[in-house]
Amino acid sequence: MAEPTSKLTRVSDIALDDDPFEGFDDSIAGDVRDPYPGLAEARRDTPVLLQEPEFDGQAASFLVFPFELVSQVLRDGETFSSAVLRDVMGPVMGDHIILGMDEPEHRRHRALVGTAFRQKVLARWEIGLVQRVVDELVDRIVARGGGSAELVRDFTFRFPVQVIAGVLGLPRQDYAQFQKWASAIISVNSQWDRGIEASVALKDYLSRVLAERRVSPGEDLISDLAVTELDGEMLDDEEIFSFLRLILPAGAETTFRSSGNLLYALLTHTDQLDAVRADRSLLPQAIEEGLRWEPPLLLTTRVAAKDTMLGPFDVPAGAGVTVSLGAANRDPARYPDPDRFDVFRDPKQHISFGYGPHMCLGMHLARMETRVALDTLFTRLPDLRLDPTGDDPHIHGEIFRSPTSLPVLFLPPVTGPRGR
Ligand code: HEM
Repeated sequence: MAEPTSKLTRVSDIALDDDPFEGFDDSIAGDVRDPYPGLAEARRDTPVLLQEPEFDGQAASFLVFPFELVSQVLRDGETFSSAVLRDVMGPVMGDHIILGMDEPEHRRHRALVGTAFRQKVLARWEIGLVQRVVDELVDRIVARGGGSAELVRDFTFRFPVQVIAGVLGLPRQDYAQFQKWASAIISVNSQWDRGIEASVALKDYLSRVLAERRVSPGEDLISDLAVTELDGEMLDDEEIFSFLRLILPAGAETTFRSSGNLLYALLTHTDQLDAVRADRSLLPQAIEEGLRWEPPLLLTTRVAAKDTMLGPFDVPAGAGVTVSLGAANRDPARYPDPDRFDVFRDPKQHISFGYGPHMCLGMHLARMETRVALDTLFTRLPDLRLDPTGDDPHIHGEIFRSPTSLPVLFLPPVTGPRGR
C-alpha cells in the first residue's frame, strides 16, 4: 500500500491500546430482545396510536407503524416539523443541529455540509482511511493468537469512531481523549451530566482545531467545512461545531450497532454467511437486508406543524408524531415474510436511513465502512463462526438495538493485511 500523503491518513498512527469500552453505558438500549411481535400487533390493530397526555396541557402524541404512513411523515417536512429534535438534542449538540432544522434553513445547511460527503471524498476515505483502520484492528485480533475474539469489544465498537477521528484529521496524541468524549456523548441519555461535560470539552477542543484549519487547511472534514462556500454563503463556527458533534452519535453509534447486527444475522444464518463469504459481491445486498431486518435506531420523531390527517386519523397541530422505523421495515404489505432475514430477497428500499429531506447524509459512508469491515473480517479470519461456548449473544434494545457481545472463533489466520 502506498505511504500516506494526506492528513487524513494520520489515523494510522493512532494508539490502539485504549479500551473504548471504558465509560460506555448501554443501559439506555434496554434488554428487550424481540420487540417485533408487539410492533406487528400495533401495526395491524392501531396503525396510528394516540398516546393520552400524562398531564393537563400536554400536547397529544401519536405513534405510527405502517411503512406507508411512516414514509408519509418523513417525506412531508412542511406538515411534520423536525424542530422537536433541536429541543431534544440541542443541549448536547448545540442549536444549529441539522436534524432539527426545517426548510428553508435545512436546505441551505444541507447543501453546505453535504459537499463534504460527495462521492470523490468517499473514494478517498475508503482507500486512505477506512481500509487502514479496519486492517489495524484485525491485526490486533490476529496478533493476540488463539483463534478467538469478541467482535463488539475488539472491532465493531472501535472502527466507526476511529473512522470519524480520521475523517476529522485528528492527530494521534488527541485520539484517546476523543474516544472518551465519543463514549460519553454516545451514552448521554443514561449519564446526562457526563455527556454534557464531554460535549462542552469537545466543542472547546474542536474550536482550537477549527482555528488551526482555517489558517492551514488540510484534506479533512473540518477543513472542508471551514472553506465550503455556496452562492457566497459559508458555515459559521457554531454551525460547524453543531455538525461535528452530531456526527459522533449519528455516524459512529449507528454504524457500530448496525455492523454488529449484520454480523449477528450472518453468524446465526450460516448458509447465508457461507454464500456471502464465497461471493463478496453479495455484501451490498446483505448490508441492506441487515439494516432492514434489524435497524440500529428504531424511532425518530416530528411535531405536526398544522392540523392534518394520517390515513383516516386526525392529527392536530402541535401533536408529537413518533414513527417506528422498526415496524415499517417489517411491514408485510411491503416485505413478504418480513421477519425472515434473507439476503436474497427482492430488493426494496428500507427506511433505516430515514426518508425525505432529512434522509441520512452519511449513508454512503456507512455502507462503505460496513462493506470494507466485513470483507476484511471474512478474508483475514477464515471460517469465522460464533463461539458455541459464548455467553448467549443476542440483539437487544427498544430504541437503539445491537448485540453487546459477539464471541467468535476462527481458523489460524492469514497474517499480513488483507491476506498478504
Ligand atoms: C448504519 C448507519 C446509519 C444509520 C442507520 C443512520 C440513520 C439515520 C437516520 C434514520 C436519519 C434521519 C433521522 C430523521 O429523519 O429524524 C439520519 C440522518 C443523518 N445521519 Fe445517519 N445513519 C447512519 C450513519 C451515518 C453516518 C456514518 C453519518 C456521518 C458520518 C451520518 C450522518 C447523518 C446526518 C448528518 C444526518 C442528518 C441529515 C439531515 O438532517 O438532513 N449517519 N441518519
